[in-house]
Amino acid sequence: MAATDVTMDKVVSLTRRRGFVFPSSEIYGGLGSTYDYGHYGVLMKNEIRTLWLRAMVQERDDIVALDSAIILNPRVWEASGHVAGFTDPLVDCRTCKLRFRADKLEDSNCGRKPSKRPGETADCDLTEPRQFNLMFETQVGAMQDEASQAYLRPETAQGIFINFKNVLQLARRKPPFGIAQTGKSFRNEITPGNFLFRVREFEQMEMEFFVPPDDAEQWYRYWVEERLNWHRGLGLRDENLRVREHGAEERSHYSSGTSDIEYLYPIGWQELEGVANRGAFDLTQHTQHSGTKLEYVGPDGERYVPHVVEPAVSIERIFVALLCDAYREEVVGERERTVLQLSPRVAPVKAAILPLIPRDEGMATRAKNLFGELRRRFSVEHDDSGQIGRRYRRQDEIGTPWAFTIDEQTLEDETVTVRDRDSLAQERVPISGVASWLSAALERPWSPPAAA
Ligand code: GAP
Repeated sequence: MAATDVTMDKVVSLTRRRGFVFPSSEIYGGLGSTYDYGHYGVLMKNEIRTLWLRAMVQERDDIVALDSAIILNPRVWEASGHVAGFTDPLVDCRTCKLRFRADKLEDSNCGRKPSKRPGETADCDLTEPRQFNLMFETQVGAMQDEASQAYLRPETAQGIFINFKNVLQLARRKPPFGIAQTGKSFRNEITPGNFLFRVREFEQMEMEFFVPPDDAEQWYRYWVEERLNWHRGLGLRDENLRVREHGAEERSHYSSGTSDIEYLYPIGWQELEGVANRGAFDLTQHTQHSGTKLEYVGPDGERYVPHVVEPAVSIERIFVALLCDAYREEVVGERERTVLQLSPRVAPVKAAILPLIPRDEGMATRAKNLFGELRRRFSVEHDDSGQIGRRYRRQDEIGTPWAFTIDEQTLEDETVTVRDRDSLAQERVPISGVASWLSAALERPWSPPAAA
């Protein structure tokens, strides 16, 4: 199966069938573009977040972690420009009563049958575009008046800027240094859809890197390369990744450089991660609005407002890219199988432990013991229900890279069969050496198998 045959519908169907992701509030008819994650979805999201934090914080000397609040003082969003400018242009159709993004009419369908683009039929009656703010509003405290109005954060970045001084002083940092944060962000997107690609509630992973102004361009190039390599390291195929640099007309007024790391989703090339050279804009804005000077003062009196380079991505965009990249339908022998060829580093379950004949006490006991030993260190699953072939298929569909089968030979020589998800090759290893075998296998470099 070629990667181009992977459709979003197939990926959605598998994630539903295997309990990765469910439409949210389903028993009440759902709520547009919000999703709940089931067991395997949670495990896989945890792996993505852990790998990001490892690369951005644990393995570096120059980046520290932060976890700021979701609801901030509303003045933060005035200073950042979100209250005035975080908007999409909208038009309403007076005939079909639907609402569309004025800049995305060619991607929308009007409410009449047969459906056309909004404005294309004689009946369409579109209003003039007006600006619609994407921030979700809420109230803080018991009074519901203007003074209590607040917002759910539309990005995690501002929580970082407003803590710049704390980190500078208390973590004893000097530029270049970064602050990294992961957490939920909320946007009242008007044209959400395409599964998790554009949702109203998503988990961002953002890092603000503060640098001396003269070094900003160099750090910007560095982070584009670094982040592209990180996505490659997750196992995403090289041919499905590219960098697209924004033209001057596409960039925010304060940005001197923005690049999207794009992925070839089934819906076409789309932004996976953005890397922006934001200049001194954010720290300057918060200095002006708060009255607190956000600047670096060196030991010899040198002072400047650091420039900021920001790589920003959501777990959802990575999650969808990984699933689309990994999804394959194959014929093996006479049988068809669907398999997720995920990198072992992101696979929700690293190995399955399968007693060949579950009612055989010798096999059952050894399988349970092995499971008990492995689960202390790895995400593993014990499965003793159904035909062995069906159990393998189930593990293939959730992307489990290896299965250890306890069979007749195990009872004779205390070895087990290891089955490789991608090559289907089998080898035997001593049952006592499975933990170290698995540990070494997870450390090995991995690249996606060539398309069949
Ligand atoms: N602080 C900069 C910022 O938030 P952005 O381009 O608006 O920039 C950064 O968002 C990243 O967040 C995007 O590259 C994408 O990975 C993710 N993202 C943005 N909106 C999203 C949505 N509605 N659903 C899922 N992910 C989203």
